[in-house]
Amino acid sequence: MKKLIVFGSGRGSNFESIYKYIEKGIIKAKVVAVVSNKENAPILEKARKRKIPAIYVNPKNITREEFFRNYDFIKNYLTEEDKNYLLKAPENHEFFSSNKFKELKRILYDHKIFHTIKEFEADGIILAGYMRVVSKYLIDKFPNKILNIHPSLLPSFVGLNAQKQAYDYGVKIAGATVHIVNEVLDGGPIIIQAAVPVREDDTEESLTKRILKYEHKIYPQAVKWFCEDRLLVDGRKVKIDLTDLKLKNIVNNEALISPGLEEVFLEN
Ligand code: GRF
Repeated sequence: MKKLIVFGSGRGSNFESIYKYIEKGIIKAKVVAVVSNKENAPILEKARKRKIPAIYVNPKNITREEFFRNYDFIKNYLTEEDKNYLLKAPENHEFFSSNKFKELKRILYDHKIFHTIKEFEADGIILAGYMRVVSKYLIDKFPNKILNIHPSLLPSFVGLNAQKQAYDYGVKIAGATVHIVNEVLDGGPIIIQAAVPVREDDTEESLTKRILKYEHKIYPQAVKWFCEDRLLVDGRKVKIDLTDLKLKNIVNNEALISPGLEEVFLEN
């Protein structure tokens, strides 16, 4: 039985959809904790209701002082040039507003998270509406063991408000993707995708709702395969062991899902 930690920042509907299949015994896993960067995120409340440890990790106090307090750790991520620069001029403003510093802050935050979750000895992390970029530090701690869902047909429309981006662009097919997390934002190897039609009378809201309906099917499906050790990451490709599985590609005469869904995930 795999031990999973769910990370989320918002309402947690994907967490609920996965949890439903865990409760039914269809996904053989235990959610050992739910982690959030938002103190009042509904996902934490949803975890508490299910008696799952709900942990808030504050991202706000990753300050310059925190940076220097953790210098022994963070120096592993600095080039010689950075180090010389910082030691000579620790008050240097340019560095503290650079992208490099942003990435270092992410690493420090993930370091803090890792030390908080270590005790749970998780086998995988499920990002479910987690509105932060995961750093190389955490990815290296969980290689090919962090999953994410993105509400577009990747590689189109990465980043925030993907459904709006697709709707505004005028695509006729939108969708959702579950992928392994690597260092590129929304850029990791793909496990499963759902192609969802855009209707003539759609609004951004109605399209978002239709996409979400299929998110709630493909994410539990991907997590099930992950928990059954069916995923093999080979470069950009995820090879899925589909032995003994009967999959359906066309769902509700509406969405095209590849590689498909097992019957248990077809119900509405
Ligand atoms: C979903 O649309 C997901 O694809 C995106 O953020 C949203 C999270 O929703 N990454 P929820 O918190 O799972 O309800």
